Amino acid sequence: MNRVLALCLSLLLAHGAQAVDAPRLRFRVADQTVKTLDLPQLRSRLAAHDIELFDPHYEKPKHFRAFALADVMDAAFGDRWRSDDHTEVVFVASDGYRSVSDRDKLKEEGGYLVFADLDLTDGWEAIDRKQTNPGPFYVVWLGAEQSTASAYPWPWQLAEIAILRFRDQYPAVFPAGAAEDSSVMRGYLLFKNRCFRCHAMNEQGGKVGPDLNAPMSVVEYRSPMMIREFIRHPSRYRHTHMPDHEDLSDRDLEDLLDYLRYQARPGRSLEESSTEALGRGKRQTTP
Ligand code: HEC
Repeated sequence: MNRVLALCLSLLLAHGAQAVDAPRLRFRVADQTVKTLDLPQLRSRLAAHDIELFDPHYEKPKHFRAFALADVMDAAFGDRWRSDDHTEVVFVASDGYRSVSDRDKLKEEGGYLVFADLDLTDGWEAIDRKQTNPGPFYVVWLGAEQSTASAYPWPWQLAEIAILRFRDQYPAVFPAGAAEDSSVMRGYLLFKNRCFRCHAMNEQGGKVGPDLNAPMSVVEYRSPMMIREFIRHPSRYRHTHMPDHEDLSDRDLEDLLDYLRYQARPGRSLEESSTEALGRGKRQTTP
């Protein structure tokens, strides 16, 4: 009798634990959590699609079950995410890694939130050099042009999606006072889209690579020639997680340098060092 009771109890507990452990996604507007949805809730609200793509991280064709990313955004934020108050979307992984993307990219077709790997009967095939499990949520894109190099987000182990105005949220990264059509502003856009997920300015941003402005700006201890060379071909100098950026033009590199110099100008780091560091990305890397 006791044994039957114990069995019932453990079944109940197991059932309870499963409900609690259902993978969930947090949705934020700037600093405020506006919704949390778990997988069963997402499944009950959204159409699931079986998709097939050549996955650049697995470096082979993959089959997944997924929701359209725009449907997920609608379910979480309603029409709000389409308004011009929010210019960027930030994807935060469970280890704190964050990548930023222009909100408008999510209005395009081709973005999917994967929740099941259809190449296995159960679980996920490990991804990347570190053999990471990309679940419970992984973002992929179907279009050939929708690559990381074109600043489309491909985060795995996704835990949170936030909509925000980047310049308000990361004031230490935004080049306040720079003209809209300046090289500094172009360099900032490149930095935001291509570098921020791994590098911080004054502790706001990724932690995979070094902070490029604090405690000392990289432009103060490395020559412009070395910085240009390193950004384009880090693999020539080191075994490193920093990817080569061979697609960047000479002008792109000059723009990045102008941005780094602008952020390094005297007084700026002091002024900004008291603002709370919001970017706490670490670890996760994408090839
Ligand atoms: C996937 C992560 C990643 C991305 C993306 C990335 N970096 Fe890096 N970066 C690193 C890491 C890690 C290092 C440290 C290099 C090493 O020693 O392994 C580094 C080093 C550097 C350095 C040298 C700093 C020093 O003091 O030695 C510069 C400059 C730099 N990165 C600029 C950039 C720029 C500009 C971009 C965007 C165009 C960028 N990085 C994109 C990870 C990244």
